[in-house]
Amino acid sequence: MSLTPSGFDLIVLAWMALALALMPIQLRITAPYGRHLRHGWGPTVPARLGWITMELVPLLVFVPLFLAGPTAKTAPMWVFFALWVAHYLQRGLVFPLRARNRGRRMPFLIVVSAVGFNAVNAGLNGSYLGWIAALYPDSWLADPRFIIGLVLFVAGALLNLWADNRLIHLRRPGSADYVIPRGGPFEYLSCPNHLGEIVEWTGFAVMCWNLPALSFAIWTAANLIPRSLSHHRWYGEHFPDYPAGRRAVIPGFL
Ligand SMILES: NC(=O)c1ccc[n+]([C@@H]2O[C@H](COP(=O)([O-])OP(=O)(O)OC[C@H]3O[C@@H](n4cnc5c(N)ncnc54)[C@H](OP(=O)(O)O)[C@@H]3O)[C@@H](O)[C@H]2O)c1
Repeated sequence: MSLTPSGFDLIVLAWMALALALMPIQLRITAPYGRHLRHGWGPTVPARLGWITMELVPLLVFVPLFLAGPTAKTAPMWVFFALWVAHYLQRGLVFPLRARNRGRRMPFLIVVSAVGFNAVNAGLNGSYLGWIAALYPDSWLADPRFIIGLVLFVAGALLNLWADNRLIHLRRPGSADYVIPRGGPFEYLSCPNHLGEIVEWTGFAVMCWNLPALSFAIWTAANLIPRSLSHHRWYGEHFPDYPAGRRAVIPGFL
């Protein structure tokens, strides 16, 4: 858990800087998938296949790196491993198979860029935890950073799962329509699922207390804040009766 600058740390710092550098572009150019799919982004693939392809990469990269490396696989390490695997089994298999996305497509370019992002992100986190990290002693389980981070991770994951589930069920099977989401956090936000994801990976960064996990939290915010703002604008443009008091992703603020 040393934060002394090393070659690896410098790579992670550059990776974080890239997230921040790309954020203004993401704010101006909405990523063309889901409701924002549009012409001009090249060939497309079925959305379900795209999601499975992009989101299984973090398992295929992280798991072998974590397991093959020489770091001591203490209890906190296994917690990090279990949370990562659980999240990506959900995101890479359960979410795409449950989503009512029959007939929906996404640009191949999105799949390629998400595969690239996921490979680097899982590569950095897997190599750090598997090969580089100093010992996380079992006593780390009682460290306030671990406990606070775990609480954030679980709270964020529950919000994300709840909100994605609610959104998925807004659509009748076989339909591609969009409906105004209502109830719970949707009364305050257009995208509580995105807020949940940001909180989840912020929690992971706090509980792991290392640079690669921090870089993942930064990338998640840099990807999802612009996407939430685009969703929020889109709702306003498509539903004249869209509730005016809602924010995009941070209650009362953004
Ligand atoms: N960590 C990261 O950097 C990152 C990046 C991107 C996404 N994610 C996560 O991946 C998940 C999906 O992201 P997303 O941005 O694609 O979510 P989203 O746009 O909110 O869509 C979630 C699902 O619900 C459907 N849906 C959304 N709003 C709807 C509405 N008003 N009426 C009917 N159906 C609706 C969508 O269908 P359509 O797809 O057909 O619109 C999709 O199947 C989220 O949990 C997000 O947090 C994470």
